[in-house]
Amino acid sequence: MAAPAANSYSQICFIVVLATTVVLPSCAQLYPDFYDKACPQALPTIKKIVEQAIEREPRMGASLLRLHFHDCFVNGCDGSLLLDDTPDFTGEKTANPNRNSVRGFEVVDEIKAAVNSVCYGNVVSCADILAVAARDSVAALGGPSYQVLVGRRDAKTASKNDANNNIPAPTLEFQGLLSKFQAQGLGQEDLVVLSGAHTIGLARCATFRDRIYNDTNIDSGFAGELRMKCPRSGGDNNLQPLDDTSTSFDTEYFDDLLEQKGLLHSDQQLFKGDGSTSDGLVRYYNDNPTAFWEDFGVSMIKMGNLKPLTGTNGEIRMNCRKVN
Ligand code: HEM
Ligand SMILES: *[C@@H]1O[C@H](CO)[C@@H](O)[C@H](O)[C@H]1NC(C)=O
Repeated sequence: MAAPAANSYSQICFIVVLATTVVLPSCAQLYPDFYDKACPQALPTIKKIVEQAIEREPRMGASLLRLHFHDCFVNGCDGSLLLDDTPDFTGEKTANPNRNSVRGFEVVDEIKAAVNSVCYGNVVSCADILAVAARDSVAALGGPSYQVLVGRRDAKTASKNDANNNIPAPTLEFQGLLSKFQAQGLGQEDLVVLSGAHTIGLARCATFRDRIYNDTNIDSGFAGELRMKCPRSGGDNNLQPLDDTSTSFDTEYFDDLLEQKGLLHSDQQLFKGDGSTSDGLVRYYNDNPTAFWEDFGVSMIKMGNLKPLTGTNGEIRMNCRKVN
């Protein structure tokens, strides 16, 4: 395949002026064919392990997709989420949105070991593994497959504080959710279509308890059933599906929102029945699965392009859990 034209992929470019003499253009650019020469087996290997993991446990597809989101929203898609805490290093795994919640790290380790083996060395970044595994997870659960962009490098740092501040909480109102997305350069359409990721996966009682006991924009039968599974106190880790078909990537999530059966408070914020633009988007994606698929891929690539480390920035981590 020919090298892509420099302007055919979204990129963030700026000019670095060094001591008035040298001018370096700096483009954080990603490509679909980044590994084609260095390790042609990299992407097929990731796909195979993702598919095996999903066969063992269908939920794993959802968990892997979420890892990419929680990585990208915290100072870019740089694998920072994957770093383990040590006595003298605090990473992002214990931040509120992640603690007792994000999962799939063992599968990432398995992928990393497999690519290191087929590539005869340390070639594929952990940040790219998350981006590719997210894409392959969506496809394996019946969703769209899009051309994923790669060439990211891994961070040497992480920020628990930024994970707490940047990842949206399920208690937020619409404006709060939108602000978190806008802070990343994403918009309302990205918010609605990417929330469609909740067409797969599960959530813990602790994340939707207030909604089922206190919200009024919830179907009463739906709330009643959930209260039996998620008591007012205790059972924090009891799991419930985020939509009615939580192992298939379909438009059921949007259909549930139209019926006031969003599981999270934040989900139902996208459809309030007040004729807002967001309401219109929920109806549109419910009626047009093809548009949902296409737009989901576009927004995933946009999210995947958030501040990647490229060139000589960062490193290719040997082990995704620690800096080299
Ligand atoms: C719009 C703001 C969002 C909020 C407030 C939110 C919140 C949550 C919460 C509270 C959970 C359950 C966590 C738990 O039980 O511990 C969850 C699960 C999940 N989220 Fe989101 N999320 C948002 C957007 C996204 C986006 C953009 C994606 C991916 C593109 C995503 C993918 C997922 C997936 C796949 C799961 C299920 C994970 C599993 O079963 O392991 N979410 N989300
Ligand atoms: C519901 O609202 C009340 C009053 O604001 C609050 O005390 C309570 O913690 C909320 N959540 C639940 C699960 O009842």
